[in-house]
Amino acid sequence: MILIKKAQILQNWVKDQRNNSTKIGFVPTMGALHKGHISLIEASKKMNTYTVCSVFVNPTQFNDPTDFDKYPVTIENDIQLLEAAGCDILFLPSVNEMYPNGFSQNQKYNLGNIESILEGKFRAGHYQGVCMIVHRLLDIVQPDNLYLGQKDLQQCIVISKLIDTLGLNEKIKVTICPTLREIDGLAMSSRNMRLTKEERKLAPSIYAALLFIKNNMEEKQPPELKKISSKMLKDKGFKVDYLEIADFSNLSSINNWKESKKAVVLVAAYNNEIRLIDNLLLS
Ligand code: PAF
Repeated sequence: MILIKKAQILQNWVKDQRNNSTKIGFVPTMGALHKGHISLIEASKKMNTYTVCSVFVNPTQFNDPTDFDKYPVTIENDIQLLEAAGCDILFLPSVNEMYPNGFSQNQKYNLGNIESILEGKFRAGHYQGVCMIVHRLLDIVQPDNLYLGQKDLQQCIVISKLIDTLGLNEKIKVTICPTLREIDGLAMSSRNMRLTKEERKLAPSIYAALLFIKNNMEEKQPPELKKISSKMLKDKGFKVDYLEIADFSNLSSINNWKESKKAVVLVAAYNNEIRLIDNLLLS
C-alpha cells in the first residue's frame, strides 16, 4: 500500500494510472477503522483496478466540538487493517491540505429537505460539512466507484444528491454496502470504541428496538410501533434524538405501511455521552 499525504501527489498518481480500462474505487473514512470499513475495501477490490481509502477526521462536519476532540484516532491500526485488506492507496491528508483556504464555505450545497430532517435536524450544518469534504475528495481522487456504508443511510442519500448536483452521476457510481453487526446485533461503528463496559452491554438494545418494529409490522402501524420501541430505549436509559419510520428513497416519514414500497426505520440515541445511530430495512 502506498501512503500519500499530498493532494497533488494523489492527483498525479491517479492521472498516471488512468487508461481506458482502469477503474478506481474510493472508500472515504474518518479512520478508527473496523470490519465494516474493511467490507467496503473488499467490495471495491472486487470491482476496481485500484482501491483508494482516505482517512481524515473532517472538522467541518462536527457540530459538537467535544465530539470532534474525542473522535477516536487509531492510525497505526488503520494502516495495518488496510494493508491486510489489500488497499492500494491510503490518502492521509492534513487539515491544511484539505482546507488550504480555511473552513469558510464558499459553496452552499443545495440538498433540499434531506439535510434538515433526522440527523440534519439534530446536527445543524453537518451535511454541508460532509459535502464540503466529499466534494474536495472526489475532485482529488476522481473515482469511478464510491463505496459507502448503509449504517449512515442518510449520508449515502446526501452524497448521492451531491454527486447529482455536481453533474457527476454518469461518472461516479455509488454503492451502498450493508451494515456489519457484532454478534449481539450492535452496528459496527468507530464510536463503539468509546463505550464503557456497561454502556457496551446496553448498546445492542438499539438493534433490538429496530428488530421489534420489523417483527411487528403485520400487527401494528408505524406510529404505534415508534412509540413502543422509543419507550423500550428510554426505559433502558437512552436519550432518543429520533426514531423514525420512513420511505427508503427520501427518508420522509410514513404513518401507514401502504405509503411506502420500501420502508426503513432509523434511530439516533445517546447511551450516556455516546450518540449511536442505526437503521434497518423493513421491506
Ligand atoms: O462517514 C464518514 O466517515 C464521513 O462522514 C465521510 C464520508 C468520510 C466524510 O468525512
